[in-house]
Amino acid sequence: MHQLAIRNVHVLDGSGRAPFLGDVAIDAGRLVEVGEIGAARRNVDGRGRTLAPGFIDAHTHDDGALLRHPSMWFKVSQGVTTVVVGNCGFGAVASARSPATRSMLSLSPTWIDLAGYRAAIESSPPALNAIALVGHNTLREATLGLESRRASAAEMATMRSTVASAMEQGACGISTGLLYAPGAWAPEDELVPLTEAVAPFGGIYVSHVRDEFDGLLASVDEALRIGQQAGVPTHVSHHKAAGRSNWGMVPRSLERIDDAVMSGQDVTLDAYPYTAGSGPMAQYFRNGIDPGLAEGMRIASCPSLPHYEGRMLVDLAAEQGCSLEDVVRQILDAPDADQAICLQFLADEGDIEANLRHPRVMIGSDGIPELRGKPHPRLVGTFSRVLGVYVRQRRVCSLPEMVRRMTSLPAQRFGLAGRGRIEPGFHADLVLFDPATVVDAATYDEPLRPSVGIELVMVGGEVVWREGHATSARPGRLLAHELGATIAP
Ligand code: ZN
Ligand code: CU
Repeated sequence: MHQLAIRNVHVLDGSGRAPFLGDVAIDAGRLVEVGEIGAARRNVDGRGRTLAPGFIDAHTHDDGALLRHPSMWFKVSQGVTTVVVGNCGFGAVASARSPATRSMLSLSPTWIDLAGYRAAIESSPPALNAIALVGHNTLREATLGLESRRASAAEMATMRSTVASAMEQGACGISTGLLYAPGAWAPEDELVPLTEAVAPFGGIYVSHVRDEFDGLLASVDEALRIGQQAGVPTHVSHHKAAGRSNWGMVPRSLERIDDAVMSGQDVTLDAYPYTAGSGPMAQYFRNGIDPGLAEGMRIASCPSLPHYEGRMLVDLAAEQGCSLEDVVRQILDAPDADQAICLQFLADEGDIEANLRHPRVMIGSDGIPELRGKPHPRLVGTFSRVLGVYVRQRRVCSLPEMVRRMTSLPAQRFGLAGRGRIEPGFHADLVLFDPATVVDAATYDEPLRPSVGIELVMVGGEVVWREGHATSARPGRLLAHELGATIAP
């Protein structure tokens, strides 16, 4: 007698093949039978619904949210059962000595290493699983402070050994955020040796590349070179061409990646399905106020000027009869300016579709889990938006293929053994959804509305989301990276 069965359901197993009608049985948190199964104590009728492996959010900043918002409702409500944290160069490892990271991720570290972060998560577990990257910005601030200079040999040795011990403790690789301070001050010959330190563990190099605007192609080339020289796979984060003059550059950048793959390099990417990006405002104007960037900018959250939240800077400037620069300065001079998060409308819809058509692009929400104000709707809507708008309405990609890129592909990339497939022996991380109705409901003005059509979400066989509500189950863990296969060309 099985503990639980989901019956008469269209199974999308995560491999990319067409769905088949069948039943699945779950015992002790694992899938034990798929297809024809025996009797079960509890039965869920899956008629007319599709069952897929739980989605893996390849790019998140949920490092602090796992502890602050353990229900993780904004993720499980889209069918996400695992998040990759430590992105854009900011992560839990070494965060005790990085004030920039603590403020950016709303972390209050009581730990000194990844094992300590895991213990913190175990003592107050979240609803879903996570896997961590070591963030280079965090590491650099912890080692050199916020100084724009080269690392000394001794500092390099310290950073390398921190990376290696985090890998021993289960990190899946190293991430950089070369737009941001202090990572932007690191030359390529600092990044190669630090990335080499993940190689013996089968880790990867994940990069928010140096310049997503005019310098996109050169920056993608740099990421490819670093991965190649260090002998590890390269993963490009939130691939996009930012700024109107660069629209249409994504297909060219993808060609560079295809060429690298054809020449034997293992490369993958992630993308989110929105034309707006989002991040800490101070970081965008680190080198002065660029009015071109300010023009498409909107305030997501701003604790000291909450009435600015949800407003475009151009509208605030017009209202006050002042310049865009004046408005930016008001915000950056206010207390808690490092907490000001903005949105910028900077990408092209055609570029998003080009990304979503590419077989090596997975989905990463890149949401900032700051629930005050008007956060970017990608935090809540990314996965259901891809399925509803880009798969069902626009047919940019087939459903089985997109589910593969939300499940088995990231599971392989981030070394998540036993996840990302519906197969006997795999963990019962599952999402039951209606492919005819699934879609995002979060908008720029109503960013916290949960998705439509995501009916049941399980993590390790426990229900964490059911018909519009998070349950009280908290089965999530900080997973350890396991040596995965490389992804064949
Ligand atoms: Zn980033
Ligand atoms: Cu990011």
